[in-house]
Amino acid sequence: MKQVSIIGLGYIGLPTAAMFASHGVKVKGVDVVQEICDIINEGKIHIEEPYLEEIVKQSVLSGMFSASTIVEPSDNFIIAVPTPITREKKADLSYVVKAAESIYPVLKPGNLVILESTVSPRCTEDVLIPVLEKSGLKAGRDFYVAHCPERVLPGKIIYELEHNNKIIGGITEESAIKAKELYSAFVQGEMHLTDATTAELCKLMENTYRDVNIALANELAKICDKLGVNVWDVVKYANKHPRVNLHQPGPGVGGHCLAVDPWFIVEATPELARIIELSRKTNDGMPAYVAQKVAGLVPDRAKVVVLGCTYKPDVDDMRESPVVELIEMLEENYQVEVVDPYIEKYDSNVYEVSNDADLIVLGVNHKQFKNLNFDVLAKIMKTKKILDTRNLFDKHAVTQSGFEYFLLGDGSSTALAEEAVFEVAAAQV
Ligand SMILES: NC(=O)c1ccc[n+]([C@@H]2O[C@H](COP(=O)([O-])OP(=O)(O)OC[C@H]3O[C@@H](n4cnc5c(N)ncnc54)[C@H](O)[C@@H]3O)[C@@H](O)[C@H]2O)c1
Repeated sequence: MKQVSIIGLGYIGLPTAAMFASHGVKVKGVDVVQEICDIINEGKIHIEEPYLEEIVKQSVLSGMFSASTIVEPSDNFIIAVPTPITREKKADLSYVVKAAESIYPVLKPGNLVILESTVSPRCTEDVLIPVLEKSGLKAGRDFYVAHCPERVLPGKIIYELEHNNKIIGGITEESAIKAKELYSAFVQGEMHLTDATTAELCKLMENTYRDVNIALANELAKICDKLGVNVWDVVKYANKHPRVNLHQPGPGVGGHCLAVDPWFIVEATPELARIIELSRKTNDGMPAYVAQKVAGLVPDRAKVVVLGCTYKPDVDDMRESPVVELIEMLEENYQVEVVDPYIEKYDSNVYEVSNDADLIVLGVNHKQFKNLNFDVLAKIMKTKKILDTRNLFDKHAVTQSGFEYFLLGDGSSTALAEEAVFEVAAAQV
């Protein structure tokens, strides 16, 4: 029977382990956190993901999946540990190094090591392999190595693990073939074989492509603000062109992928990755741009209600959220209340916190905010102003209730913002 050891049992490693175990591959899961191993060995899970708990439970009960803090000998190893960025926007590869250090003492000739973590260009060749070769074995000759990046969407991980296309980057052709054979246990999507560095760059560029395009939309929003044109109309009508796909502007870009991965490329080639770096800075500057607009709309110490604080709609994930940054900026000058139905520490009822408010700022277009009753809000707020950064509200309905409606990227708040003085330390407006 095939066997695999999966190092790192988080959002990627645990579902991957469950998929292998439920498709006839015996899985030893490894995590440095004992509590995570204990939970899994009870057939339970420590993360939120639809359908996962049932598969883990069945796999543990059938004896196909167990977890421990110790790496044991295995035919195959998959590394799925975190790869965050430092405060200086450099890739932190220390988790990958530690994972490799736990593998090399048990590495045997003929083994396959797959790196699934998202990493900087050349990490497989220059960082992973030197640690694994401390075993005395030679990569590509005595054991196989591949980089196979993951691109699943949280909330749909089980489906996408099986059906997404996969890039298999071997350090040799044989390494790629071995990795493909392993994943064939459950992957139904196409598997494209290439080299490890190409695979690394593919993954990084997928997220960079989206980040750069959002930056383009955000730059367009600023241009439209200046020209008094509605950016949302420009995007909508330009996209009627069969070969144009402008993205949506907004108060910034968050999450653990788009706001992180482009920096890995900038770090590797700072003198060349100019558009990529400028895009990152453009998107990182959007919270300050929105804060500047708020300063034009209400005086210091006004009561500002921010709707939503996650990094995208209808999820409970606040990692790298630009709205969290916006809230921190606003808290320096205003009395800020946050409403987010997905985050426990915040109120979920817009009407309860909007009493005597001076301004509502729509930060995240959660579905719960779509049909607000503006007549009710008009009665309880002190000043009837709304700043919509996502083009969620119907301008007609809002203004009919007596509100002044300001939209990001249509010029409605620009003159006021330009007059306002708002000190933001790291503002890159
Ligand atoms: N979560 C996603 O949606 C997603 C999507 C695509 C790619 N990725 C990438 O996959 C990688 C893993 O991400 P994640 O979301 O699963 O992270 P995670 O934080 O959810 O899980 C990582 C796990 O690794 C464990 N760990 C850390 N160091 C370890 C070590 N030396 N040995 C054993 N276990 C160790 C941690 O305790 C944690 O449980 C990252 O590189 C990420 O960028 C994530």
